[in-house]
Amino acid sequence: MQNIKQHIETLRAEIESHNRNYYDLFQPRISDYEFDQKLKELEELEKEYPQFADANSPTQRVGSDVSEKFAQIEHQYPMLSLANTYSEGEIMEFYNRTTKALLGEEFEIVCELKYDGTSISLIYENGLLTQAITRGDGTRGDDVTANVRTIRSIPLKLTGSDYPAKFEIRGEILMPWSAFNQLNEERSANEESLFANPRNAAAGTLKTLDPQVVANRKLDSYLYYLLGENLLADTHFANLQAARDWGFKISDATKVCHVLEEVIEFINYWDKERHNLPVATDGIVLKVNSLRQQRSIGMTAKSPRWAIAYKFQAESAETRLLSVEFSVGRTGVITPVANLEPVLLSGTIVKRASLYNEDAIEEFDLHIGDLCSVEKGGEIIPKITRVNREMRLPDSIKVRFVENCPACGTKLERPEGEAAHFCPNHLGCAPQIKGGIELFISRKAMNINVGSESIAQFYDAGLIKNSADLYDLTADDLLKLDRWQKKSVDKFLESVEQSKQVAYERVLYALGIPGVGETGAKKLAKIFHTLDDLMQASLEQLVGVDEVGAVIAQNIHNYFSNKENRQILLRLKKHGLQMALDESALAQQSDKLAGQTIVISGVFTHHSRDEYKAMIEQNSGKNAVSISKNTTFVLAGENMGPEKLKKAEKLGIKIMNEEEFLNMIFIDYA
Ligand code: IVH
Repeated sequence: MQNIKQHIETLRAEIESHNRNYYDLFQPRISDYEFDQKLKELEELEKEYPQFADANSPTQRVGSDVSEKFAQIEHQYPMLSLANTYSEGEIMEFYNRTTKALLGEEFEIVCELKYDGTSISLIYENGLLTQAITRGDGTRGDDVTANVRTIRSIPLKLTGSDYPAKFEIRGEILMPWSAFNQLNEERSANEESLFANPRNAAAGTLKTLDPQVVANRKLDSYLYYLLGENLLADTHFANLQAARDWGFKISDATKVCHVLEEVIEFINYWDKERHNLPVATDGIVLKVNSLRQQRSIGMTAKSPRWAIAYKFQAESAETRLLSVEFSVGRTGVITPVANLEPVLLSGTIVKRASLYNEDAIEEFDLHIGDLCSVEKGGEIIPKITRVNREMRLPDSIKVRFVENCPACGTKLERPEGEAAHFCPNHLGCAPQIKGGIELFISRKAMNINVGSESIAQFYDAGLIKNSADLYDLTADDLLKLDRWQKKSVDKFLESVEQSKQVAYERVLYALGIPGVGETGAKKLAKIFHTLDDLMQASLEQLVGVDEVGAVIAQNIHNYFSNKENRQILLRLKKHGLQMALDESALAQQSDKLAGQTIVISGVFTHHSRDEYKAMIEQNSGKNAVSISKNTTFVLAGENMGPEKLKKAEKLGIKIMNEEEFLNMIFIDYA
């Protein structure tokens, strides 16, 4: 008995900790499936042993994402979740339960995709968006209206006139794969922690305090549920179609089914086809179509009885852990990576998996040779989701986090309250130095035309130890090196010379101050117009800049307090790099289209195609010839090619006309 009580308590603590990882830190450590299994096990135990019931058990509430940063608003109708199922058998049970509840009356089931984002409730009054609230704890959520207003696919004003005077529409806010990958690439370049999947990225973005950041992150939405006193139709499906006419994004992948076989067919089709969608989905939702029937079936405290989710199994595979490698990043952060016995997982061979940090390794009590489950959700590299301790080999060695830097041997530090270890030897640790110079020369920084192998070559030959040394390199130095000839040397030196014209805000980014990314550097440059101003800024002044929190402010301060850094800066200044804002240049260039891939099609009236292409480049966008799922939007003139139109529509890619495009580029300019 004591054992059972203890087991229940361990399960509760585990679930609470996973809830925290999921809702507060946006970094889940286990799959949804495993989470559900744990919750189910706890529910069953609590049912069997009611003497151990506890009102605070995680089974008694839905996880909460309420945060203190936003005003809280009570939901008029509670925001419920859905019961999850994982097999055809469970769907059949749902069908039988529904038939029974409706006393044998016929019913239709609407099948929809289960979009894997973060849920939102939108309130419209007289055709205008008045409030957007997150799910929160189901009863009250965060008021994120200002952020949601920046999402283009959410209408601020409805079209048509037959919408109810007041109604609520619920759906999912999503970050498309393309935006997610781009965001993580940027974060990786800045050595910021990566979002594990688009769902966490969408949830995290919606909870940022700066609507401008939200606007830049390209969120999308699908709406799937209407609520209100005076809905037009008496079926769920018809209401969704009406909502589409008012301007909401409603999925085309929605089907009214009459028999179980149709439902199964829908599931099997989308289990494969979903991989071609621009956004993440994790299952199918089945809903009774008639609203009258929904009311008669009713709901439990947590979820409606007239709907159910069928979750796709995340693909996972078991393999052995061969070793753990610790690598040092540009800012000195140590990342543990698992080397695995190669295993086939969703069509690719997996050899490595992320291990995050010391806590994750400890949580798994990881030993070399362990049989691990690896999963590839939406993640960039697969992650270990479970360790099979029963299959542990005898005498296997426990994995311990390194104490000294694997590159330079310096004792590692782990700041209090942080999960990551780092090497403090920033100016003497090879991967940090090389990484810093690589960032310095990168396209978005100084744009010096040379690869990372050459940086390693210069470093290994003792020619460079920091970014300022690049400007002292001579043709003679380089010609002595392998693979360097007059032509390549000239090209390189020319590119070094050109980098002296690179704008101040990019120089600032190129310095690689931890946490100061491209956007942060721009914001700093707008306030501190010269490097000298920035160097003299107080912590208080720095924290006042958008996107700069206390940690980044301290990083900036530390960077400039360091004597060696100041010497490097002085040398860079002497070499003629831009150390002050060029205000006129800033007014013409923008990064409005940064990370966006645009296809131009058709005939235009205001400007020529070439002019539009140049405009896209000037605003940091990319021109592409053909439409794919990576296309952000199509800039369409008259007579856009019918094939292109069809493809864009199929992939759900936005089509923009000339005027919309010009408005976007020129409004709020500078
Ligand atoms: S209906 C009362 N439909 O899944 C019914 N939910 O696990 C409310 N979700 O909180 C939900 N796609 O965030 C519904 N087509 C869909 C959905 C969907 C994704 C999410 C939603 C909900 C969660 C439940």
